[in-house]
Amino acid sequence: MIEIKGLHKNFSHPSGDLPVLKGIDLSIKEGQMIALMGASGVGKSTLLHVMGALDRPTSGTVLYDGVDIFRLSETGLVSFRNKKIGFVFQFHHLLPEFSAIENVIMPGLLAGDASKAELKKRAAGLLGELGLARRLHHRPGELSGGEQQRVAVARALFMSPSVILADEPTGNLDAGTGRELFDLLLSLNKKLGITFVIATHDMGLAEKCGHIVNMVDGAIAAKPAAA
Ligand SMILES: Nc1ncnc2c1ncn2[C@@H]1O[C@H](COP(=O)(O)OP(=O)(O)OP(=O)(O)O)[C@@H](O)[C@H]1O
Ligand SMILES: [Mg+2]
Repeated sequence: MIEIKGLHKNFSHPSGDLPVLKGIDLSIKEGQMIALMGASGVGKSTLLHVMGALDRPTSGTVLYDGVDIFRLSETGLVSFRNKKIGFVFQFHHLLPEFSAIENVIMPGLLAGDASKAELKKRAAGLLGELGLARRLHHRPGELSGGEQQRVAVARALFMSPSVILADEPTGNLDAGTGRELFDLLLSLNKKLGITFVIATHDMGLAEKCGHIVNMVDGAIAAKPAAA
């Protein structure tokens, strides 16, 4: 369902043009859970950003169900990203001035196809399922790291995406909390069939995924192998 072909990304910088993605080819099937691994600086975050249309490639294509997303109009691309893809980052990226429930409904407000009351009802249900029923009105600063990350997961899930891209979602958590968060992602993959691509440095967690994809020097090192 996700088909990445010949993906290149160069960053222009005053110190010179920097090639980071150097011809990525990768096919991801619906419902797969992929751990994206590789040394620091190899381009994992860059790849996730391009896959999630947060950034444009220098060349190459990313197809979702046959649709070349970078050929969509700017509004088409924004809508695609909002409805089809959820993001979870290492540092949750929650808005500090807003409560948990307000953070979760943000993508829904952006889409603008339901009332705020309806969105809040849905968000409360989702946060409840993630064990946060009593934290709906806490701001990020009033939540533990693991709770903040679960709010970020709820936000990523809110639009019922078919794909969740997670960039070191456990990188900022202690080992136990990180495992719990990872198990939550695994259960969402199993229960809802959401496709996951998760960048991680944690081999123990990566091995729980169906597939490990290794990046070396801006390219995929080997074909996805069953873990
Ligand atoms: N906006 C930018 N401008 C210039 N260079 C960038 C930019 N973003 C990333 N880079 C460079 O691209 C390279 C890849 O960065 P990226 O963040 O994708 O690595 P990574 O594999 O996610 O590493 P880590 O495991 O440390 O998170 C790095 O060398 C970085 O310096
Ligand atoms: Mg990174």
